[in-house]
Order: sequence, then C-alpha cells, then structure tokens
Amino acid sequence: MVLRFLCVVLSLALLSLGGTIFTDPVQVTKNYDFIVVGGGTAGAVVATRLSESPSVSILVIEAGVADNGTDSNLIYTPLLAGSGIGTILDWNYTTTSQSGLNGRALDFPRGFVVGGSSCINSMIYSRGPSDEYNRLATVSGDSGWSWLSLLPYIYKNEKHTPPWNNRNTFGEYNPLVHGYGPLLTGLTPTVFEHDKLVIKTTVEYPALYPYNLDLNSGNGLGFGWLQTSVGHSVRSTSASTYLRPALNTRGNIDLLLHTQVIKLVETATNTFKAVQVAQNAAAPSYQFTASKEVIVSAGTVGTPQLLMLSGIGPAEQLAEVGIESVIDLPDVGNNLQDQIILTLQWEVNGKTMFPFYNDPAAFAAALAQYDANKTGIAAGNPVVNTIGFMRLPSDSPLLAGGDPAAGPNAAHYQLAFLGTFYPNPGQTSPTTGNWMSIAIVVQSPTSRGSISLTSSNAFVHPSIDPEYFTTAFDIGTAIQAVKTAKAFVATSPWADFIIAPFADTAALTTDAEIEAYIRTYSTTLNHPTSTAKISQNSDEGGVVGPHLLVKGASGLRIVDASILPSMVAGYPQAEVYIIAERAADLIKSTWGLL
Ligand SMILES: Cc1cc2nc3c(=O)[nH]c(=O)nc-3n(C[C@H](O)[C@H](O)[C@H](O)COP(=O)(O)OP(=O)(O)OC[C@H]3O[C@@H](n4cnc5c(N)ncnc54)[C@H](O)[C@@H]3O)c2cc1C
Ligand SMILES: *[C@@H]1O[C@H](CO)[C@@H](O)[C@H](O)[C@H]1NC(C)=O
Ligand SMILES: *[C@@H]1O[C@H](CO)[C@@H](O)[C@H](O)[C@H]1NC(C)=O
Ligand SMILES: *[C@@H]1O[C@H](CO)[C@@H](O)[C@H](O)[C@H]1NC(C)=O
Repeated sequence: MVLRFLCVVLSLALLSLGGTIFTDPVQVTKNYDFIVVGGGTAGAVVATRLSESPSVSILVIEAGVADNGTDSNLIYTPLLAGSGIGTILDWNYTTTSQSGLNGRALDFPRGFVVGGSSCINSMIYSRGPSDEYNRLATVSGDSGWSWLSLLPYIYKNEKHTPPWNNRNTFGEYNPLVHGYGPLLTGLTPTVFEHDKLVIKTTVEYPALYPYNLDLNSGNGLGFGWLQTSVGHSVRSTSASTYLRPALNTRGNIDLLLHTQVIKLVETATNTFKAVQVAQNAAAPSYQFTASKEVIVSAGTVGTPQLLMLSGIGPAEQLAEVGIESVIDLPDVGNNLQDQIILTLQWEVNGKTMFPFYNDPAAFAAALAQYDANKTGIAAGNPVVNTIGFMRLPSDSPLLAGGDPAAGPNAAHYQLAFLGTFYPNPGQTSPTTGNWMSIAIVVQSPTSRGSISLTSSNAFVHPSIDPEYFTTAFDIGTAIQAVKTAKAFVATSPWADFIIAPFADTAALTTDAEIEAYIRTYSTTLNHPTSTAKISQNSDEGGVVGPHLLVKGASGLRIVDASILPSMVAGYPQAEVYIIAERAADLIKSTWGLL
C-alpha cells in the first residue's frame, strides 16, 4: 500500500516536474522559443532566468560533459580547485608561440562542462570597481550598464555566506554590499600568519597600502580579505546554483549534452534563428530552430569561432579558410585580452599550507574528512585569502600615453598572497620548510591579440594569440608590481616572519633582471575577454550593440565574457554573472516577458 502510494507520488513528480537532459541530438524532437549555445557561466544564468517565464521554452546546447559525473569532486571540492585543468572538463586549448614570453606557447584551459569555466576556475569572487561598469556604460552608450544601474543584478546573483567553521569574520567584509542570489560566496575558514601580516601592514602603512573593508563594494582599490565562490563548503557554479535547480523543477527548459553547435544558420537574410549541431566531426549533423532568439554563450574562444564558422567575421580572413562571408564584422575574434600571473616566493617563519601540500597522507586525510562531513581544510579556498589592488603613481611615465584603467578607482596591478610555494611553470619547488608566494597580475593590460580560424571544420581548435607583453605599458607595469611586492614584505611587520627569498626572487635587482624573469615565467591567469566586444550601434567597430545583439544580424545575441570591451580590473566571473543577469532581463523585455 505504502509502496504503491510512493510509486504514484514518484511518477506524478516525474510527469509534472523538471526538464529533460538529452545526450544525443536525435532525442530532441520538439521546437523551442530560445536556443542557448553553451551552458557555461553566462549561458546557464540566461537560460535559467528565461525559464522563469512559463510561457516560453528553452533548449541549452552544451558541447561538454555533465557537472555531476564521476569526476564531480574535481569541480565541487574546494581544495581540488585547479584540478579540473587538463581533464575531461577542459577543452585543452593552447596559445600560439608568444614572442613576449620567449616563444613559449601556453596551455589555455576553458571549461568543457555544464557550468563552463565556473566549474574549473580558481573561485575568486571579485566584482572589480564601479569604474569598470561605468566604462561599460560609456563604451556602449547605455547607462543601464553603470554600476548603480547594475546593483540590483549584482544582489540578485550573489549571497555572502559564513565559512563552515563559523569563524568570526566581523570587520573582514561589509554585509551591506551583498545580495540574496543563488551564487554563494564567502571568506576563508582558515586564516594564516601571513594573512594577519598583510592586514597589519595596511594598519601601519595606510597611505601606501590602505585597508579596504570590502573590495566588492565598488571601491576596488587597496588591500583586504578575498571572497570566493564557495558556500556551505562547496564550490558554487552556474550549473549548481542556476541550471540544475531549474532543470529539476521546471518543465520548459531542456539541456542537450555532448553536442557542439557547429554553425549558426541563416533562416532569412541576416537572420540567424537556427543552429546546426554535431557530436563529433564524423557524426551526422542536426538542425534546430528557435522561434524567438539564439543566444550565443560559448565563451571568449567558442563564441568568435562559431560566428566565424557561420560567415560572421572578418570577410578576408574567412575567405582564406574557404568560408563565405555573410556579415563582414572585422572585430570578431579581435581585441583578445588576457591577464598573466607571475609569482615571487619567500621562506617564512610560521605555519603555511606548504607542508600540507607536500604530505600526501595529510592531503588524503583532508579529502576523507571532507567526504565524511564537509569540514576541514578541503572545505575552503585552499591558498589565497588576502589580496591588494594598486595603481601606478599618477606621475608614472607608463601613464604618459594615456591610462588604460577604467577610471581612478580601477587598479593597474594586483598582489595576491599565497600561503605556499606557488611555482611558476618550469620552476622547481623546494621540498622542506614553510613558504609563501606573492602573485602579481597586470590588471589593465594594453596588449590585444586575436582568435582566428585555422579550418572551416568546427572540431579543429582555432588559433589563439593573446600577444602577451607586447606593449611597454604591460611589461613596465609588471616590473613595477614585482618591485612593490618586494617592498611590501620588506616593511617592518614582516621582519621576523620572512626568513629569506627563494633564490630566483633574491636574484631580481635590476629592471632587466625582472623583465627577463617575467618573460621566462609568466603564465595565463585564464581570463580571456573581448573577442566580440560591445560598442555603440553607431560605432563601426565592435561586434555587439548595447543590448548585446550582433551588429547587422537579427535574432542573434551574445552573452558571455567575449562582449567585455576590455580586461576587467577585478576577476571576470563576477562580471560575467552580472552581465548575464541583466542580459536575461533585456531578452525578457524584448519578448514582453518581464
Ligand atoms: C582555470 C581557470 C581559472 C580561473 N579563475 C578565475 C577566478 O578565480 N575568478 C574569476 O573571476 N574568474 C576566473 N576564471 C575566468 C572565469 O571563470 C571566466 O571568465 C568565466 O567563467 C567565463 O564565462 P563565459 O560564460 O564567458 O564562458 P564559459 O564559462 O567558459 O562557458 C562557455 C561554455 O560554452 C560551451 N561551448 C563552447 N563552444 C560551444 C559550442 N560551439 N557549442 C556548444 N557549447 C559550446 C563550453 O563548453 C562552456 O560550457 C578562470 C578561468 C579558468 C579557465
Ligand atoms: C546527474 O543529474 C541528472 C539529473 O539531474 C540525473 O539524471 C543523473 O542520474 C545524475 N548523474 C549522476 C552520475 O549522478
Ligand atoms: C583534454 O585532455 C584530457 C587529458 O588528455 C582528456 O581526457 C580530455 O578528453 C580532453 N578534453 C577534450 C575536450 O577533448
Ligand atoms: C568531521 O569529521 C572529522 C574527522 O573525521 C571529525 O574530527 C570532526 O569532528 C567532524 N566534524 C563534524 C562537525 O562532524
């Protein structure tokens, strides 16, 4: 009797609730109002918000795998952040050989999974300064992108949560600048000695290194506590916080996995309301049509690649790979920006994470504890808890040619404090002692590269050329950042803590030595943007207009990191979430769904 009752309840639930997850395009038989290409960071948000309107139907098409497979611990266990790189969760792109990096080619990870790069990123949640968003408003001519206009979307996206151990975090963030959204963020459960010294330095040197209570308040300068996209001991992804809950409860949203969109199909002159898909180069292709819009959220690499495969891009370049031009948009794939990371290291007198990382038994025990009850060192952001965003001095010769930052409260460079020996690629780590590292990042690079097709086959990777360190500003700012990092730990609070710099760090005295070190060791921070950048409708350049519609096309919108006009002064995921939240409302408004 009870069993029968349960069966009835269960089958009712199956009938009435939830969307369908398809694993082969042959299974997709119905028509949809909206097709979202890429179920990544932005795509999952847009699709989920559109599904709040029960009158419309949405199909999300994702090239990669599900986020809840056997490898989902690589995504959701905070300690394992970074471990998804180079696995089945990664597209495994590489850059072209970089002249600014002594000819090195870099691995260029991108999430190949529902949730996209939000599943494999380093979980740093940093909105950047208000200047960043105000520049977006100016560049696009749409005040709706300003910081003040976007605040409701910022709060709709994010919610601050306490660390699992309920450590007292009073004075480490400002509760007034946080929201009520599904994306959970928070501060570290574990504070290290070097973190306390960072804060002490801000107290003793407030003019040089000011304390910032909450770097996510719109004031993006100074030093403070880092927030991460971790809540209740688990990484928050756009899959876990947006798409999966929608798929579990709404019948108007479906997901097609393991399927790449290989072409946007012209359904009437310059109208692109259909997509062609395939599971691999040898598999049959299928076509699906959206009655309202196709939204491309394939990311900074996938989006320009797909546009170009569809004849939307630089006509001459497309001709070289045998693709007929439909809309000549020279900026598709252009303006690629990225940030680099470089570390300096010191041996220190105090507890750090370094011994833990070198003790496989301790590491395994931490994972076992996490699996048992989601506590312990594996339940929080593993290495970086404190961070500083700085500007060049206003009389710096590097600014003589103009200031590339978004405004006076936007950083030129960053110092992040890591409680371990964080080796640059090619560096050999020590095996004993306690170590800390400072990572330097140029926040406002001026180098701009490109993504271009090497083939008309969608399954062949495009060529990725970020042109790292090809401008005097970028290399000069990195040199300044290295000097500031060294000066920071030479202040009095660090006197008893620092034992000695690592040999490579100790050897950096002249600008020439620092430059050589930067070119030898810098690697990508995995923040590519701007390959389909936004501009005003009247501007000749750019790829999308202020409401993210592709210029010269109908029925086609782009929502992802590719639309950013320039590199961000914070970290990109927060801004991508925020842009996607507003984009969903722009789409709803277009179709009378608000
Ligand atoms: C290793 C790493 C570390 C990072 N660390 C941080 C960090 O700590 N903090 C931070 O703020 N940012 C970080 N970032 C950057 C941040 O994660 C990205 O900027 C952001 O997630 C990009 O979102 P998106 O929606 O533009 O693209 P994505 O999230 O990458 O989504 C694109 C999606 O489209 C899919 N796709 C692509 N092409 C197709 C196609 N043709 N058909 C179907 N599907 C397709 C992809 O598989 C993917 O799921 C990091 C990124 C990486 C890779
Ligand atoms: C992943 O989630 C889907 C639907 O939410 C479910 O059908 C599937 O069984 C899950 N897979 C695993 C391995 O848990
Ligand atoms: C990336 O490389 C890993 C390791 O070789 C592999 O397992 C994975 O399938 C690759 N990703 C893709 C999308 O091919
Ligand atoms: C979690 O597990 C660890 C080790 O297994 C134990 O020491 C700890 O008390 C547990 N914590 C909670 C809150 O259950």
